[in-house]
Amino acid sequence: MKIIDSPEIIQKKASEFKAQGKQIGFVPTMGYLHEGHEQLIKEAKEENDIVILSIFINPLQFGEGEDLDRYPRDEVHDQTVAQKLGVDLLFFPTKESMYPTESAIQLSVNKRTNVLCGKSRPGHFDGVVTVVAKLFHLCQPAKAYFGMKDAQQVAVVKALVDDLNFPVEIVPVATVREPDGLAKSSRNVNLNDQERKDAPVIYAALQQGREMIRNGEQDLNNVKTAVNTFIETHTHGKIDYVELLSYPELENIDRPKGQMIIAAAVQFEKARLIDNQVFDSH
Ligand code: PAJ
Repeated sequence: MKIIDSPEIIQKKASEFKAQGKQIGFVPTMGYLHEGHEQLIKEAKEENDIVILSIFINPLQFGEGEDLDRYPRDEVHDQTVAQKLGVDLLFFPTKESMYPTESAIQLSVNKRTNVLCGKSRPGHFDGVVTVVAKLFHLCQPAKAYFGMKDAQQVAVVKALVDDLNFPVEIVPVATVREPDGLAKSSRNVNLNDQERKDAPVIYAALQQGREMIRNGEQDLNNVKTAVNTFIETHTHGKIDYVELLSYPELENIDRPKGQMIIAAAVQFEKARLIDNQVFDSH
C-alpha cells in the first residue's frame, strides 16, 4: 500500500492506473476507521482492480461550534486497517494541500438539503459536495462507495453526480451496526457509559416507526410522535429531528408513498448521533 499526501501525485497515479485499463474504486472517509468503513472498502475491493481510500477531515463541512476540533483521529490504526483490507493507495492530504488558497469556488446544493441534517447543519452539504467533487477529480473512480448510515449524503452525492455528469457510479452500502443495533460511528467514542447504553434506542424507535407504516398507519404525524416519545422516554439525549420523507428526493409527503426514509438525529452531551431506515412503504 502506498500512502500519498499530495493531490497532484494521487491524480497522476490514478491517471496511470486508468491508462493501464484498471478500474478504480474509491472510498472517501474522515478516518478513525470502524467496521462501517471497512465494509465500504471490502465492497470496493471486490468490484474494482484498484482501491483508493481517502482520509481527510474536511473543514468545509463543519459549521461553527461543531466538533471539528474534537473529531477523533488515529492514523496508525487507520493505516493498519487499510493495509489489512488491501487498499492500494491511501490518500491522506493535509488541509493546506487540499485548500491552499481561500477558495474562489464552492458548490452549493439547492435540493434535498432543507430537511434532516441539511436543515440543522446549514452549509454542511455544500462542504461535502465541494470536497467530494475535488476527490473525484483527483482519484478518478469508476465507482465510489458511500454508507446508507448517511442516507442524505448518498442522495445529495447522487444529485451531484447526475447534475454535473461525473462519470462515477455511486454505490450505496448498508449500515453496519453494533450487536445491540447502534449504527457504528466514529462519534460513538464520545458517548459516556449511560449514553452508550441508551443509544440503541434510536434504531429501535426508527424500526418501530417503519413497522407502524408497514402495518397500515396513514398519519405520518402519529408515527413521528411515537418515535419521538420512544426516544425521549429511553434516553437523556435531545432530539434534533425525527422526519419521514420520500427517498431519495427527500420531499415532505402527506401519507406513506413509494420509497421512504425515517430518520432521527439525537444530541447527546458530546456526540450527535444520526440513524435512518430507508424502506418501501408497501
Ligand atoms: P465519514 O463520516 O468518515 O464516513 C465515510 C463513509 O463511511 C460514509 O460514506 C459513511 O456513510 C460511511 N459509514 C459511516 N458509518 C457507517 C456504518 N455504520 N455503516 C456503513 N457505512 C458507514 O461521510 C463522511 O466521512 C464525509 O462526509 C465524506 C464523504 C468523507 C466527505 O468528507
